[in-house]
Amino acid sequence: MKYGVIGTGWIAKSFIDGARMLCDAEFAAVYSRTTESGNKFACENCIASVFTDIGEFAKGDFDAVYIASPNKLHYEQSKLMLESGKHVICEKPITVEPEELEELQALAKKNGLIYIEAIMYMFNPARDLLKEAIKKIGRITSVHFDFSQLSSKYPAYLAGSLPNIFNPALATGCLMDLGIYCVYPALDLFGLPKKITACAHFMESGADGSGNSAFLYDDKLVNLTYSKLGQDRLGSQIFGDEGTIVIGSISKLTNMKLIDNKGNETEIIGDVEKERLMGYEAQALENFIKNPDDPYYLTVCERALQVSKEMKKIRDLSGIKFG
Ligand SMILES: NC(=O)c1ccc[n+]([C@@H]2O[C@H](COP(=O)([O-])OP(=O)(O)OC[C@H]3O[C@@H](n4cnc5c(N)ncnc54)[C@H](OP(=O)(O)O)[C@@H]3O)[C@@H](O)[C@H]2O)c1
Repeated sequence: MKYGVIGTGWIAKSFIDGARMLCDAEFAAVYSRTTESGNKFACENCIASVFTDIGEFAKGDFDAVYIASPNKLHYEQSKLMLESGKHVICEKPITVEPEELEELQALAKKNGLIYIEAIMYMFNPARDLLKEAIKKIGRITSVHFDFSQLSSKYPAYLAGSLPNIFNPALATGCLMDLGIYCVYPALDLFGLPKKITACAHFMESGADGSGNSAFLYDDKLVNLTYSKLGQDRLGSQIFGDEGTIVIGSISKLTNMKLIDNKGNETEIIGDVEKERLMGYEAQALENFIKNPDDPYYLTVCERALQVSKEMKKIRDLSGIKFG
């Protein structure tokens, strides 16, 4: 399958490497705002064509586009690609507003195209391993999912610049960047909560640097914490009355183990390279293009919309605003 790519950051390279690792993927074109950055990326990743005009790029000779631009641009770029007959896999968060996602899901359906969010969790085989492990720890009343990762851009921010990730005008910040990785498993494993509470810590730029939300269910409380200003060293945990599941990385579902109440540990999965996890996303896209009636495609679309709607509630409760 032939791909076009929007965005020239490190994550786009990881997707390309993953898709080449697991699929018969050809990367035919890249869109960049500048010839210099586009040429550099194309040269490093063996891509034939470089476009600096997004309208011309949209007419390019490829079947699907992988979008890895700042969040604020996802909606308009995905819309243009879907209007131009391209399948779309767009980085998380797939759109900023849930209404935008609903609109584009309808557009994709109308045009007979596949449109999915590049979220590792939904395409990761370890998701099934986690679901099986959950059945072995008895009654679950408490859960803590954490994604706290000290941002490599924080020193630049402290030195006075404004990296995209801390610029609310681009709809970035901690919830949109890392919190989403906690929201996905919470909704996928436990369903919609009956009540949500949420708070955020704001940086001077107006971006949320860290935050938390609590999902209350009839039978359990799921606590989500996320930060771009400090580094987690303990991971996430699902507490059952017959055992505990420890998850080293909630975004990758790696380094997971089950510890029973006597302290015996059973490994669920060890480490997996990020490129492979992104390759699973590309595999799913190709499968959905070949089999658009695959019921899992519907699940993926429904879950993306649920996540978007609950994220919007968290934003409103936390006072997160984008310029
Ligand atoms: N799945 C994952 O693990 C993962 C990891 C990191 C990021 N992401 C997602 O990937 C997306 C991109 O994140 P990133 O950190 O790579 O973003 P970024 O570095 O801020 O921007 C990505 C690319 O977009 C272009 N760009 C930068 N600023 C722009 C602006 N103001 N207006 C228009 N284009 C701009 C740049 O390409 P040109 O200069 O060549 O135009 C840049 O290489 C986000 O949605 C993020 O959530 C996902």
